[in-house]
Amino acid sequence: MESVGRSSRSRGVVELDDRGPTLPETLEIVRGTWEGLSPLAIDNDAAANNRIVTLNRSSPAHAAFDMMRTKLLRLLRENHWTSVAITSPTAACGKTCIALNLAFSLANQRDCRTALVDLDLRRPQIGKALAIKKPGAMESFLKGEAGLRETFFRYGDNLAIAPNRQAVQFSAELLQSASAAQAIQTMRQEIKPDVILYDLPPMLSTDDVLAFLPNVDGVILVAASDQSTMSEVDICEQSLRERTNVLGVVLNKSQYSQEQYGY
Ligand SMILES: Nc1ncnc2c1ncn2[C@@H]1O[C@H](COP(=O)(O)OP(=O)(O)O)[C@@H](O)[C@H]1O
Ligand SMILES: [Mg+2]
Repeated sequence: MESVGRSSRSRGVVELDDRGPTLPETLEIVRGTWEGLSPLAIDNDAAANNRIVTLNRSSPAHAAFDMMRTKLLRLLRENHWTSVAITSPTAACGKTCIALNLAFSLANQRDCRTALVDLDLRRPQIGKALAIKKPGAMESFLKGEAGLRETFFRYGDNLAIAPNRQAVQFSAELLQSASAAQAIQTMRQEIKPDVILYDLPPMLSTDDVLAFLPNVDGVILVAASDQSTMSEVDICEQSLRERTNVLGVVLNKSQYSQEQYGY
């Protein structure tokens, strides 16, 4: 992961430093919001089938995600950033897989509250990967027609997950709408996540990512070693750097494993 070292931009919302033990009333409200979210029962078979390895620390693969988590957390804390988009040049590079693994790895960090939001409105996958039986409609949440309790589930008391049950027409327009910005701001104020991961669509085939970028502090670009070309990665990275902070480029599906180097 690397930082381009840009300064943090104010978003007119509560930042990391605004919460804490000096604000007991605020903490009570936050605790109440979390307790009001439906608890998520994890389907371990579905999770394993979908390559979610950070739920079970006995899997050696979780170490790579823990490393990514720790680098990301450091970068976010240093810059007072919160919101991270995950995208890729084309489909099936592993965005959802990485978003989920990162989210569960972050959940093991007890002093950190994380939210994971499925904003791949064209191909929602988070609900399917976790076999969530009744996901809410992200379209309703982003239009201000559904609240947090209808949209977010909680895993333990520090990871909130918002799946999406169906694809949305005109997703780019919705992602850049005032109602979507308002829904996200409400979520930030009430859930008070230290980290928000947004699982977005691929960049090269849609304008959804460009439409949503004003809502994030930075982006993780996922490339698949068997699929993404250098030129695709270059085009995406350059386009992102003109608009936001590129927090890192992840090379997924690599055939070289860490075990080969003894770790
Ligand atoms: N590191 C990996 N190695 C092998 N297969 C992977 C890896 N990461 C993801 N996959 C698989 O690739 C497919 C696409 O992954 P997914 O996370 O759904 O991509 P995206 O969200 O970018 O469309 C899924 O079947 C997923 O299980
Ligand atoms: Mg996906």
